[in-house]
Amino acid sequence: MLRTNTCGELRISDINKTVTLCGWVQKSRDLGGMTFIDLRDRYGITQLAFNTDWDKGLCDQARALSREFVVQVTGTVIERESKNKNNPTGDIELKVSSIKVLNDAKTPPFTIEEDTDGGDELRMKYRYLDLRRSSVRKNLELRHRIAIETRNYLDKQDFLEVETPVLIKSTPEGARDFVVPSRMHSGQFYALPQSPQTFKQLLMVSGFDRYYQIVKCFRDEDLRADRQPEFTQIDCEMSFVEQEDILNTFEGLVKHLFKTVKGVDIPKLQRMTYADAMKYYGNDKPDTRFEMKFVELNSVVKGQNFKVFDDAELVVGICAKGAAEYTRKQLDELTEFVKRPQIGATGLVYARYNSDGTIKSSVDKFYNEEQLKTWATAFDAQPGDLMLILAGAKEKTQKALSELRLEMGSRLGLRDKNTFSCLWVIDFPLLEWNDGDPNLLASLAGRWHAKHHPFTSPKPEDIALLSTDPGAVRANAYDMVINGVEIGGGSIRIHNKDLQAQMFDILGFTKEEAQKQFGFLMNAFEYGAPPHGGLAFGFDRLCSLFGGSDSIRDFIAFPKNNAGRDMMIDSPSEISDEQLKELSIRTEIAKA
Ligand code: AMO
Repeated sequence: MLRTNTCGELRISDINKTVTLCGWVQKSRDLGGMTFIDLRDRYGITQLAFNTDWDKGLCDQARALSREFVVQVTGTVIERESKNKNNPTGDIELKVSSIKVLNDAKTPPFTIEEDTDGGDELRMKYRYLDLRRSSVRKNLELRHRIAIETRNYLDKQDFLEVETPVLIKSTPEGARDFVVPSRMHSGQFYALPQSPQTFKQLLMVSGFDRYYQIVKCFRDEDLRADRQPEFTQIDCEMSFVEQEDILNTFEGLVKHLFKTVKGVDIPKLQRMTYADAMKYYGNDKPDTRFEMKFVELNSVVKGQNFKVFDDAELVVGICAKGAAEYTRKQLDELTEFVKRPQIGATGLVYARYNSDGTIKSSVDKFYNEEQLKTWATAFDAQPGDLMLILAGAKEKTQKALSELRLEMGSRLGLRDKNTFSCLWVIDFPLLEWNDGDPNLLASLAGRWHAKHHPFTSPKPEDIALLSTDPGAVRANAYDMVINGVEIGGGSIRIHNKDLQAQMFDILGFTKEEAQKQFGFLMNAFEYGAPPHGGLAFGFDRLCSLFGGSDSIRDFIAFPKNNAGRDMMIDSPSEISDEQLKELSIRTEIAKA
């Protein structure tokens, strides 16, 4: 070992010890006779002290060290005169007796400190330097801890970690595949897994009974703060279980993680049907840290010659407690917010229930105070509250109000990052009509699409509806939602080959197409498939939730940017003509 101790280790009890440390020069301060250097490694920072009275030559050597030089120092631990209570090693410093420069360093393109001057792009390009910053490193330490505790819990529950292949063929999980051309099989392609879904089901057919894997998945879809083209799942599957068993097992995992990693006790998870989530929150991943539930107003507001409400399929609102004092400017801001193209509302109606008991609305021309009182009753509003109402086509209006609800939750300080509200959303629809989802291949538009994936089992009591009203069929599918984020999702699977064939038929696959793409699974189901089900957690999302961040990028060692590029290694990138030729890819197409 080149060192006896780390830079985060030494305390007052180590005084007078001779130690050797290695690390990077974080910064140095030259105070004339004295020079101080902060030496950093993964474990912390230790102050090195030099004094011209002790050793002039050494002091000169120290002054010559620039930021990020890698050095080895030997010295004696001494008590500091002015202690730094913010640093665990802040009671001591090292009176250095020798320095060895292990490597010099160019001046880094941004300061490697918590308050760095580097912008996003620059830090992505030099990610290996960004990773030297303690906040970024702490995120990865948290990630490691969550992975270890996940393995501890699942191992105790008899789950086996099994690796599944990465070069596979397409698994439809609701996004486009990344594909890899095969050199040996000209014109043929592997696909990278969107998840190990079919393999884990095959492991159940093999009798593995309980499987898990912390595994990379790949999806070519629109990127957002909580989506990366390659991300990690905690992927799990169990045999001989019903939905209830899965919910209990993985509620147990999440409770274990909160307890061991964050020291937080999570109460029994609430359960909410998909239908209720949509009705009361306009969203299948409601943020239940706060109430502010939707109130439908069709029967309360229609018929007063206010065309916007009369013509609307849905009039629906929320009551923001204590926000009646909002100024005109604040209300205008909210109106602008809902009118943004991403939100898409045409306008916002509001009514203030003033603390003197009067109600004033933005549509006083159409509704007198008596009528506005009936609104307040519907909302269960109290003096001091603000009623916010949107109207229009049902789905669009629900979606817009859901955004407004979150915005109001944030403005009113109801979305504290240290409060956790976990729930299961259950009874999802089995199918949804694909009107041309931009994340799917165009050829899949104008037909039913599996809301979760094609292997999800319908609720037995709804199977009869498959042939008459497919849109009404509910699935044995569930999502875990925490603070408005879909942290995980799964389902009980179809294990009967005839039902699976019917499902492929509804999804618009011909028998030949289904056989070609999923024959291996359907064949396996002929050899004794046990009833089974499972789920997958978004591991990066879980980490960012635990770390109090909205962006999963901060919890991935080498993430891609929002355009799906790795700025550091500059990928994706072109490949040589020779490689293209070997892969039988015509250059004019590849370079078009
Ligand atoms: P699903 O598609 O719901 O289910 O994915 C499971 C969880 O993975 C996370 N996730 C993502 N995280 C980051 N970036 C992405 N692009 C991304 N996409 C999904 C989410 C999500 O809840 N095979 C099924 C699971 C099953 O049925 O067992 C599946 O993959 O947190």
